[in-house]
Amino acid sequence: MADLEGLLLEWYEHRGRDLPWRKTSDPYAVLVSEIMLQQTQVERVVPRYLHWLERWPTAASLAAAPLGEVIREWQGLGYNRRAVSLHRAAQHVTASGWPENLTELPGVGRYTADAIARFALQHDVLPVDTNVRRVAERTGWAFGPASAHALMDLGATVCRARVPRCAVCPLATGCPSRGRRYEPLRKQSRFEGSFRQKRAAVLRLVAEGERPVAELDGEAVAALVRDGLVRLDGELVSLP
Ligand code: ADE
Repeated sequence: MADLEGLLLEWYEHRGRDLPWRKTSDPYAVLVSEIMLQQTQVERVVPRYLHWLERWPTAASLAAAPLGEVIREWQGLGYNRRAVSLHRAAQHVTASGWPENLTELPGVGRYTADAIARFALQHDVLPVDTNVRRVAERTGWAFGPASAHALMDLGATVCRARVPRCAVCPLATGCPSRGRRYEPLRKQSRFEGSFRQKRAAVLRLVAEGERPVAELDGEAVAALVRDGLVRLDGELVSLP
């Protein structure tokens, strides 16, 4: 049997992406990157990640920041609740240290916990995101923890969801799915005209300065209050 994992790792040496969070084993920096990457594309995350770590280089510095500033800094990354989770996670870590079970941290599910365990703590675990799962399913190969970054890059740049680029794939020779095409994935729900867009617009306004609730979409304000993203004091909506 071909050593697919060896081929993959060799490919990664030459073709892997040079991403800033791969140069650190600081669990806080990895947490920041993985929370940002949950729902935002790599190219958009890179500059925001670098800026974030300049502003708040440690969990303690983030924990000490006013939540409103953290929400403001998050603007443009989308899915703003992640800012609240990240702030709470930083406070948890600052007060009690890193939990044994990382999923106890707000905003940290199985994948993110495994990514921190692998990339920061060098645990023998393979974090499985959509790219990793796709490559593993198509090749039928069980990859080990050392392949995590390589699988993410192969999935993102070569073994793509609909039209994989088998002609440039280091695993094509041994791959049982070589040359296959795939149906379009479930479309990401439309942002245009969505409630999510309304919420984002209201939050952007409030981030510029406090506003009377009467000037804003009431349902969006209520949802933002529920998620801890804004505060309602009498008639005034402001960042927390
Ligand atoms: N997506 C989620 N985590 C990632 C990582 N560490 N590198 C590249 N893409 C990712």
